[in-house]
Amino acid sequence: MNACDSDTLSSILLTYGALRVYNLLDADVVILNTCSVRTQSEQKAFSYIGRIEKFKRLNSNFKIIVIGCMAERLGYKIKKRFSSVDLVMGLNDINNIALKIINLCSTSDDDNSVKKIFDSKSSVISRYMIIIRGCNNYCSYCVVPFVRGIEKSIEYQLLIDKCYFMVENGVREITLLGQNVNSYRYKGINFSLLLKKIASIKNLSRIRFMTNHPKDLDDELINVVASEQKICHHIHLPMQSASNRILEVMNRKYTYEDYLNLVTKLRTVIPNVSITSDIIVGFPGETEKDFNDTLNAVKKIRFDGLYVFKYSPRPNTIAYKIPDIVTLEEKKRRHLIILNESNKISVEIVSKMIGSVQRVLAEKINDGIVESKTVGGRKVFFKGNKNHIGNTFNVIIKAVKINSLLGDII
Ligand code: 5AD
Ligand code: SF4
Repeated sequence: MNACDSDTLSSILLTYGALRVYNLLDADVVILNTCSVRTQSEQKAFSYIGRIEKFKRLNSNFKIIVIGCMAERLGYKIKKRFSSVDLVMGLNDINNIALKIINLCSTSDDDNSVKKIFDSKSSVISRYMIIIRGCNNYCSYCVVPFVRGIEKSIEYQLLIDKCYFMVENGVREITLLGQNVNSYRYKGINFSLLLKKIASIKNLSRIRFMTNHPKDLDDELINVVASEQKICHHIHLPMQSASNRILEVMNRKYTYEDYLNLVTKLRTVIPNVSITSDIIVGFPGETEKDFNDTLNAVKKIRFDGLYVFKYSPRPNTIAYKIPDIVTLEEKKRRHLIILNESNKISVEIVSKMIGSVQRVLAEKINDGIVESKTVGGRKVFFKGNKNHIGNTFNVIIKAVKINSLLGDII
């Protein structure tokens, strides 16, 4: 979501005459879009500010701007800690943020000068689009509802217009984003209807979406994914834990059995569905037995991809008040065990893909090597040319390289 917000902000700033640069030495302005989901994300942002402060000495115009969840959560405290920070703003209204940034960067003697803004490169073939902001779920460990506020679906027609605009400008894959896309609702239009409408856009090849909440992923949606050709057969479905006791304290509102049934249903109804997940280890009170339940579930379900996180206590959340009894060493140990298991499964799954034919969308080219993605979201590299970009092909998988695949176009 942050990547998507950053892209939107960049586009607005470009229309104001900003210039995107890819080297910090060329930049007048650095905008840090921050995350608060774990303490580590915030620490990374702090240490980044520490590292870039010195550019102020090299360039007197150099401005540091902090936006996003951490700015929302800590506000002025960030400026107190780092006097080098020029502006701190949450992310409620991107247009307003853009205006404030432009005002801050325009001084009387350089009003018309182009401001160079440091930004990461982003693909034009595949784009993100936020469809719902905020979250009402209040999982007991999660800071999101406190920094992003309650759920708010974005106006349906605005989304459709945006999709058409993107496709006219060469985008071929759109990933719909929301903390819980399943809750999308705008004047009677639910997520399934939105997907169907977007799938009818000519020249759009692929649609992806994330994140789903297991309690809200209904049959209607599963059937739409199964029947609409353009919707990638990939479901990101955070499990978090397989211990019913822990799931209850996490306020996830499903049991492990519910989760398992959902996985079975997805695998039955959607051919070759790729299921990925998130897991938290070391949640307060997680015993060795709870942990083993989760480990066994990982072995049983065999996710196509897994993100494993060490529990990080976040202020304001319910779980923050529960004594954090799992030690850091223990969290690290559990984290590593699940990670190793998940990597082992990943290697097995990917190895089995050798010799298979995969439908891929070509996104980028570098030195005659095309970077593409399978329906399940895995990267495939093959020899090609720039005419391949934006088109879909069948490739035969020849070799495996850690997390990516090498293939030949058929
Ligand atoms: N500690 C660790 N992981 C967390 N997540 C959310 N909050 C926390 C936290 N306090 C993880 C969840 C979520 C993913 C985006 O981040 O697994 O699905
Ligand atoms: Fe956080 Fe739960 Fe909402 Fe996801 S569903 S953003 S984990 S509160």
